[in-house]
Amino acid sequence: MTQSIVQIESLTKVFDGKDRVVAVDGVDLELHEGEIFGLLGPNGAGKTTTIGMATTRILPSSGRIHINGIDVVKNPAEARQRIGVVPQFNTLDRSLTLFENLYYHCRYFAMGHGEAKARSIELLDQFLLAERKNAYPAQLSGGLAQRLQIARAIAHRPRVLFLDEPSAGLDPQSRLAMWSIVEDLHKEGITVLLTTHYMEEADKLSDRIAIIDHGRLLALGSSEKLKSIFGVRTVYELTLKSLEGIEIAAGQLRAQPGVESAEPHEHGLRIVAEKTDGLLPLIVEATKMQGLVDMRMQGANLETVFIKLTGRDLRD
Ligand SMILES: Nc1ncnc2c1ncn2[C@@H]1O[C@H](COP(=O)(O)OP(=O)(O)O)[C@@H](O)[C@H]1O
Ligand SMILES: [Mg+2]
Repeated sequence: MTQSIVQIESLTKVFDGKDRVVAVDGVDLELHEGEIFGLLGPNGAGKTTTIGMATTRILPSSGRIHINGIDVVKNPAEARQRIGVVPQFNTLDRSLTLFENLYYHCRYFAMGHGEAKARSIELLDQFLLAERKNAYPAQLSGGLAQRLQIARAIAHRPRVLFLDEPSAGLDPQSRLAMWSIVEDLHKEGITVLLTTHYMEEADKLSDRIAIIDHGRLLALGSSEKLKSIFGVRTVYELTLKSLEGIEIAAGQLRAQPGVESAEPHEHGLRIVAEKTDGLLPLIVEATKMQGLVDMRMQGANLETVFIKLTGRDLRD
């Protein structure tokens, strides 16, 4: 039996500003102890707001969140002992050295001087930052700053680590290094909730994934399960010279057996198909008038699952 360590029930957040925004809309979610859980969705989907509520930074409009049995709204200080957070934007203290960033975090979490110092040194070693311990955050590359943020987030040995868009803005090499850090932490038994709009990242790291859009969970399961539920589909992405008469072309293609949808967009046409045998000549024929400039094909992956669920791609 897998133990559940985080329970999120009917979680909702409405921002009542000039424009009323329902950022998170009735989310139910349970994290299993020790898993890496990926929350995948485009910008504005409600990922940061969800993490903000789970980590006591944002007050929910309604719903409940328990972490390790603690109600985070009723007992925020107790909850914070059990969670580590790496926010979407760097929150290192720029006036403190790397060592001091860790040390004062430990002190804030009620460690004595000796323990805080020992823990900080241990983390600098573990995260290969020991040589830079007297440097300041501004002197670090994005990758190293991210590493320090993760070190700081786990300094008080939380049970659950929240990573909000951990690889946003990282170069590919730093992203790989970050993935391996997260995998190492996972092996040590920590539970991780990460948000991302990179489907490769969700796919690579997560035991389970939830797809979120407009504040709602659209699907949840392992990457394999999501791909199988939402079918082995192929997405054809056509770039066209002109969009004149595109609705007729789209209509012709929709009428083909195996074609699930054919939707014009700004630069061309997106076709989602269940069966691809013999389809290519039909696509070329149907879009003859518009002038095919480029075509990309994508087999079933999380991106195509997302397109299937929302009619958009993660980057739209
Ligand atoms: N403090 C706020 N006030 C008003 N609207 C907000 C606030 N924070 C987020 N939003 C809105 O809530 C929605 C979800 O935002 P967010 O949780 O940041 O999404 P994501 O992290 O998935 O990009 C967006 O429409 C965003 O503009
Ligand atoms: Mg965000």
